[in-house]
Amino acid sequence: MQLHFKLILLAQPDKKNIVIFASGSGSNAQRLLEHFEHHPGIRVAALFSNNPNAYALKRAETYQVPALLFNRDTFYNSDKVLEQVKSFNPDLIVLAGFLWLVPAYLLQAFPNKIINIHPALLPKYGGKGMHGQHVHAAVLAAGEPESGITIHSIDEEYDKGEFILQKRCPVLPTDTPEDLAARVLQLEHKYLPLVVERLLSEQEHPKNLR
Ligand code: GRF
Repeated sequence: MQLHFKLILLAQPDKKNIVIFASGSGSNAQRLLEHFEHHPGIRVAALFSNNPNAYALKRAETYQVPALLFNRDTFYNSDKVLEQVKSFNPDLIVLAGFLWLVPAYLLQAFPNKIINIHPALLPKYGGKGMHGQHVHAAVLAAGEPESGITIHSIDEEYDKGEFILQKRCPVLPTDTPEDLAARVLQLEHKYLPLVVERLLSEQEHPKNLR
């Protein structure tokens, strides 16, 4: 009986690993931590941050997920972060409110495996400095009738790369940037875990083999 049990365990494939990069509050990271906490095939393996005050670090610790901090010099001028990320064997790296440009060495080490979530409908309202309330203030200032989210793969430039998913929401005439941010964040929290799950299951069963 015991032997039978062991064989079943050995037959289970190891889980897919998500590595999160986050610079701030980490509410999107929290959604990933929640969604995959008891998932049979996918786990959040680690969370990396450039910000010692990022609440995202605490969220990871609450879920007993390793939380790693790095500084600018280590990130851009050494291979320490690369080695640490590699040690978690990531199948997908998710930038969830990560504010620094990802260096080329990470892109090369994980081709097509790094995605970002942006709180607007790219290609508008993206690029350097377009984060947090700056994005929503710009959308309101332009009088846009709608905003939304873009989940996309990343390349060497801020907020570029192939779109994976866009979802829209209305912009109301009475909106403050905070109102709009809250509406957009609801979309982020709903769709980010679903997209991550879909991408990882497509890795398992590549579309062209179906
Ligand atoms: C989100 O709006 C995300 O789209 C953007 O930064 C914000 C991060 O929020 N990239 P949080 O830290 O996940 O709460």
